[in-house]
Amino acid sequence: MGGGKDKVNGRSVAGMALGVMLMAALLLYGLPGKGPDAADAASTGRTYVGVASCAGSTCHGRMEADGKVVRQDELMRWQEPSTPGGAHSRAFAVLNGMRGRQIAATLGLGDPASAPACLGCHSTPAAARGARFLAQDGVGCEACHGPASGWIASHYAVGASHAVNVAAGMTPLDRPQARASVCLDCHFGSARDGQFVTHRIMAAGHPRISFELDLFSSMQAHHDEDADYAARKGRTDSLKLWAVGQAMAVERALTLYAGAKGTEGTFPEFYFFDCQSCHRRIYDQAERSKTWETNPGRPIPAGMPPFNDENMILLSAAARVAAPGLAGRFDADSRAFHAAIARDRPAAVAAAGKLAGSARALADAFAAGGMQGDMAFAIVREIAGSAIAPRFTDYEGSVQAVMAVDTLLNGLVRSGRVTVGAAAGIRADVNRAYAAVKDPNGYRPGDFRSALGSAARSIGALQ
Ligand code: HEC
Ligand code: HEC
Ligand code: HEC
Ligand code: HEC
Repeated sequence: MGGGKDKVNGRSVAGMALGVMLMAALLLYGLPGKGPDAADAASTGRTYVGVASCAGSTCHGRMEADGKVVRQDELMRWQEPSTPGGAHSRAFAVLNGMRGRQIAATLGLGDPASAPACLGCHSTPAAARGARFLAQDGVGCEACHGPASGWIASHYAVGASHAVNVAAGMTPLDRPQARASVCLDCHFGSARDGQFVTHRIMAAGHPRISFELDLFSSMQAHHDEDADYAARKGRTDSLKLWAVGQAMAVERALTLYAGAKGTEGTFPEFYFFDCQSCHRRIYDQAERSKTWETNPGRPIPAGMPPFNDENMILLSAAARVAAPGLAGRFDADSRAFHAAIARDRPAAVAAAGKLAGSARALADAFAAGGMQGDMAFAIVREIAGSAIAPRFTDYEGSVQAVMAVDTLLNGLVRSGRVTVGAAAGIRADVNRAYAAVKDPNGYRPGDFRSALGSAARSIGALQ
């Protein structure tokens, strides 16, 4: 990691904040949420036709936005060299950079550009590749929009509609649960081959994976949410997207942990645990650790690594506001899960299954409605309040909390509840919270909570 810029987990904080502010000022986007997930390509006989098939100059390869319906310059935005929006087109090329080659060499994988352990996320995962498909495209259009063999020829035809396209295999990314599921495959991991970053890959030098659905969606957006979009798909509700993203991330982590990915040799798979809990420095007997604190949300004995609970904490805050009837059960199941890890693997697996069920119920409740834009104020208050804030004792949860506060503020701007100017006026407070998680090795829980508290108070004052 490193470089001269402010970074969180290797990402440019300044760039991220600026990008989101621009999005907030320029775009409005919204999504309804229901229906089935995308079908699995391999099991349906659908094939990936490759980026070149989407890139015609009268299709998505225009040099400027000109489309009557969609912009049609999506290819250019996906390729933008220096922005997060262009990251997916670079995903394959980074494998052959110095860091990629070092990781592969450490793991004994040979050429990273042909290593199945890397290609599942750094290329379009294609069990079924059509004739024009190129791994070099990186994370191409179909990695998110779904294998296109069934709809490439018909999706722009007269009489086509989103529903018809989805029936032909297009992934309904306008639905929060479907979108979360697609992004999490690579931005957390999946049970498929080549879509999981083990701790061994991390130890070989892979950057940490940190994700938040609404913020990352803004960072890579290549469409305009105009009146036409709203008529076809509805407006994006970024509060809902954030909350569903938290619930789906909890569910994904627990489901993978309870399955075959949960162990490595005789050890648990360390990827699921809080990195800094093992990697913090040791102080000698006279001097207590400056970074270790007990955590009221995790009834585990001192000296055991905690399961990374970043999304559980934020989901708990969302549930208290938007699904109070389910919040108690979720909190009880979370505590029971942490406690079970300290017992044995079968107990932990059973408790993980139960907690995943509670998270799924929350995702369904959020997606089905029940979230109003104003709730963002209450959720920010919860995050910094006396029930939730004491749970920010570790780095990962704290990073997720800053992203939450930022994304909720931006949602308030997009929905017109806070003006762009007012949000800009308190930007310095949000940036101070980002600064408190800039360096994982310099993280101090007390300092972080006070920075988070002042950002939350400033946002509260805008209500
Ligand atoms: C589960 C999906 C996944 C797998 C598997 C995976 N990666 Fe990554 N990789 C990512 C994501 C996501 C990022 C971006 C992290 C971020 O900044 O948020 C990334 C970032 C990187 C980067 C840094 C790129 C940059 O722009 O600096 C390198 C290098 C890299 N991966 C190499 C590899 C190699 C080599 C392998 C195989 C051993 C691999 N990855 C396996 C998802 C994955
Ligand atoms: C990382 C995932 C991802 C990749 C890669 C990606 N998209 Fe998208 N795309 C999205 C999301 C999310 C949306 C917004 C939700 C929606 O309406 O589907 C979107 C929206 C769009 C839209 C607007 C849809 C509408 O109804 O107005 C078009 C057109 C589009 N993408 C085309 C492309 C093309 C062409 C490529 C490849 C050059 C591409 N996308 C690559 C995720 C992706
Ligand atoms: C097939 C795997 C894959 C899928 C699916 C995917 N991503 Fe990514 N994404 C990556 C990889 C790999 C990188 C890092 C590439 C690099 O560093 O050049 C990345 C990078 C990004 C970045 C840039 C992050 C940064 O630090 O600059 C954003 C934003 C992003 N993804 C958002 C999304 C969203 C939102 C979705 C779902 C709509 C999504 N991605 C789906 C693999 C994927
Ligand atoms: C349960 C304890 C534990 C957890 C949790 C853990 N690690 Fe590790 N990590 C280790 C051990 C043990 C090693 C091997 C140390 C050695 O070889 O000297 C290691 C090695 C590493 C190394 C290589 C260190 C070096 O000096 O080269 C990196 C990088 C790393 N881990 C990153 C992470 C990240 C990122 C996470 C969170 C996703 C994480 N670790 C979670 C115990 C842990």
